[in-house]
Amino acid sequence: MKFFVDTAEIDAIAELNELGIVDGVTTNPSLIKKSGRDILEVTKEICALVDGPVSAEVVATEADAMIAEGRKLATIADNIAIKLPLTWDGLKACKALSAEGHMINVTLCFSANQALLAAKAGASFISPFIGRLDDINLDGMQLIADIRQIYDNYGFETEILAASIRTVNHVSEAAKIGADVMTAPPEVIKKLAQHPLTDAGLAQFLKDAEAAGIKIV
Ligand code: E4P
Repeated sequence: MKFFVDTAEIDAIAELNELGIVDGVTTNPSLIKKSGRDILEVTKEICALVDGPVSAEVVATEADAMIAEGRKLATIADNIAIKLPLTWDGLKACKALSAEGHMINVTLCFSANQALLAAKAGASFISPFIGRLDDINLDGMQLIADIRQIYDNYGFETEILAASIRTVNHVSEAAKIGADVMTAPPEVIKKLAQHPLTDAGLAQFLKDAEAAGIKIV
């Protein structure tokens, strides 16, 4: 499973990148707002830091304007994935921009039929939003499973990018289903390393090491 970081915070991306676990980055207008940075500037910095796809989202809502914004975003770096919303105009822009050879991440996907359309329109990634479905008492993980089945049934190469991940369980559940990629905030990715039995076991080992006078270097 590829790990993308869902943030526009350079320091957080750099910290995770040092560990070699960052396969890409996703941003959206809300994350850009949170960073307080100019979209073109911060996206360029992220693209220089990370080798994999960096999703940058358009803000236009009409296909021609989305295509113009997508082309501009794609000039930032070779590893830009243009992020388009799953609307009819977004699908038109997806078709046009993917035909030009750009990577496309179709975002705000909440149904299997939307995912089917995005794959047919040439999306490189489909982003089903798990957390936002769970927020309204629907089953976000079932959507990942449904899309996996449909894409496998027909051999679609669009990668399933599990998005809106809020918990560590979302990550392991999406991995078990076979999502190709997950994107999560840095805090969630760091929590993947945590387990109370690890903490308790280490505390005991350190206590015994001190009692035994163990010194290694
Ligand atoms: C990523 O591509 C999405 O924009 C992001 O995961 C949305 O997450 P949220 O629902 O927590 O805002």
